[in-house]
Amino acid sequence: MKKAILILMATVLVGGMLFAGGGQEEPAAMEDVMEVEVLHWWTSGGEAAALNVLKEDLEAKGISWVDMPVAGGGGTEAMTVLRSRATSGNPPAAVQMLGFDIIDWASEGLLANLNDVAEAEGWDAVVPEALQKFSKYDGVWIAAPVNIHSTNWVWANKKVCDELGIALPIRSWDDFIMALDKVKASGRTALAHGGQAWQDATMFDSAVIAAGGPEFYKKTMIDLDEAALGSATMKDAFDKMDQLRSYVDDNFSGRDWNLASAMVIEGQAGFQMMGDWAKGEFLNAGQVPGVDFVAFRTPGTQGTVTFNADQFVMFEVDESLRTAQNMLASAILSPTFQVAFNTVKGSVPARTDVSDAEFTIIGKTGMKELAEANSNGTLFGSMAHGHSCPAAVKNAIYDVVTAHFNGQYDAAQAVQELVKAVASAK
Ligand code: GAL
Repeated sequence: MKKAILILMATVLVGGMLFAGGGQEEPAAMEDVMEVEVLHWWTSGGEAAALNVLKEDLEAKGISWVDMPVAGGGGTEAMTVLRSRATSGNPPAAVQMLGFDIIDWASEGLLANLNDVAEAEGWDAVVPEALQKFSKYDGVWIAAPVNIHSTNWVWANKKVCDELGIALPIRSWDDFIMALDKVKASGRTALAHGGQAWQDATMFDSAVIAAGGPEFYKKTMIDLDEAALGSATMKDAFDKMDQLRSYVDDNFSGRDWNLASAMVIEGQAGFQMMGDWAKGEFLNAGQVPGVDFVAFRTPGTQGTVTFNADQFVMFEVDESLRTAQNMLASAILSPTFQVAFNTVKGSVPARTDVSDAEFTIIGKTGMKELAEANSNGTLFGSMAHGHSCPAAVKNAIYDVVTAHFNGQYDAAQAVQELVKAVASAK
């Protein structure tokens, strides 16, 4: 009885909220099921803490959260699970997704239409263009963007660096190599890394920029220009990957990214190259920015920002589930949620009209650099995180980068393999 009243109240509430802009109230439907099933890969401590903000927000609105976690950063495993759910005609209401994957799913015609919510709440005016490119398909809003992450960061243990006389932040690639040498000589792991394709690729994005600058990144990872892919500058990028490989410990293979963060947090390692979701992990461990850890742009990439954005893609579901699905979409885009979530997650809001007041110094810097890179033409989608080229090409690049990192090709061979792999995937 109590539950029925709650459901009715929530339905009336969302009816009024969602359609207020249109001036019409939708009749409350008694049979609405107020639950959302959400497939995601946010399973680390910092990620789970951020996701809780969303769960609690929805639960306060009378919606129960049906959790469908699939561990594995970058979302590769999650996409495999989604494929089998969709094939059996039973996709979850909402799925965490990145960039070009969204376009692939939209082209299969399986996604919901969020235009009523988007229009009522004015999403067109506040969501950055670079994100709308993936949130909309054929003019229809199909996804609710949660955040903007940037991926070219290094995370350093401050006490280890102080002890070894390493000045932070580090600016040039050569200084970075010298610092890695010092940490290695101290008997610690210099570079904490997890040998998974998306993590190798995260470092590769930065190696490409450090080798050839922002124009070279655009030519290779976005335009997929064959001459640039096969150039001496690309060999330099793979040489840089070889350098990085020499600072990784013996147990790196298959390690989850958050365990690599833990090595830095605990002082077993000096540095990690990882997107700013690592900040959520450091904060969740009680670490204080500037005191326990320092983050700086990957040396050699300053001025350029590679980004990705998590979006919750809404699948077409039974009519009875749509009110709850729309409420989830609406909750994700609300400015208060965007601040509450992103301050925990380490990302910045997916809206342009949110103040940076509540963010740490790293978050404030991130927001400022994102805006600057956007106006200077040096803001690029991350290849590693599905925002620079279609998923098939991304996977082909992953294969070469990982094979090289594991010693299957030398740098010169990797360049040739890269050219071939991209040509056959695009
Ligand atoms: C990224 C995602 C981030 C973070 C990371 C590691 O692809 O955008 O939000 O969760 O994977 O899991």
